[in-house]
Amino acid sequence: MVFIVAIDGPVGSGKSSVAKAVAKELGFAYVDTGAIYRALALAALEAKVSWQDHEALANLAESLEISFLPSPCGQKTLLNKIDVSQKIRTEEISQGSSVVSQYAEVRSRLLALQRRLGEESKSGAVLEGRDIGTVVFPHADIKIFLSASDEERAERRFLEITQRGEPAVYAAVLAGLKERDERDEKREAAPLFAAADAILIDTDGLVQRQVIEQIKSHIKKVYQK
Ligand code: DC
Repeated sequence: MVFIVAIDGPVGSGKSSVAKAVAKELGFAYVDTGAIYRALALAALEAKVSWQDHEALANLAESLEISFLPSPCGQKTLLNKIDVSQKIRTEEISQGSSVVSQYAEVRSRLLALQRRLGEESKSGAVLEGRDIGTVVFPHADIKIFLSASDEERAERRFLEITQRGEPAVYAAVLAGLKERDERDEKREAAPLFAAADAILIDTDGLVQRQVIEQIKSHIKKVYQK
């Protein structure tokens, strides 16, 4: 049986960096499920399919080949075999992924892919997203829900964008993050919330290493090689 670690949380809660590090240090597979919704939003944009057209989006989701390749920086995202890792990180696609992921029919078409990616790993997998512990792997071995204040999350996101050499305005980053949170939390299909059996970690004031060590110590309590 594959050991599944579910890490959920809102935008900028630090999920990605922490999930990548935990997976690498334990030799587990890393699955960034947000990249799947981002790839769909990009594919829709390129195919001129509206982000509001749920039926067309569901059909598009069915026809796409979304895959991942391990890379030194975590993972490359391939859309129909083309590397779109950079293209899916723009602010436009961030908002688009949150829009396309609202629809139940879109989510159901992408569920099997997420489960397969988790289950095909040899020893264990760390999956990060919004509904991993509630929908994708409701029986995950460990569920973590990360949170942080709006301001700290916006600060992290701002740094992430500017460190990539892209321009950003803090107030706009904060507003974009709140807009996305609201959509992710209020949608009817698999909204963002902590599973009842999730371990809650408030990352405000913690450095990344502290969060990684906390998660690893929770895993070590239950993981038997
Ligand atoms: O984690 P992220 O910021 O890359 O995710 C982009 C969007 O995808 C997010 O705003 C909501 C959606 N998403 C989701 O609905 N369910 C997931 N498991 C992962 C992401």
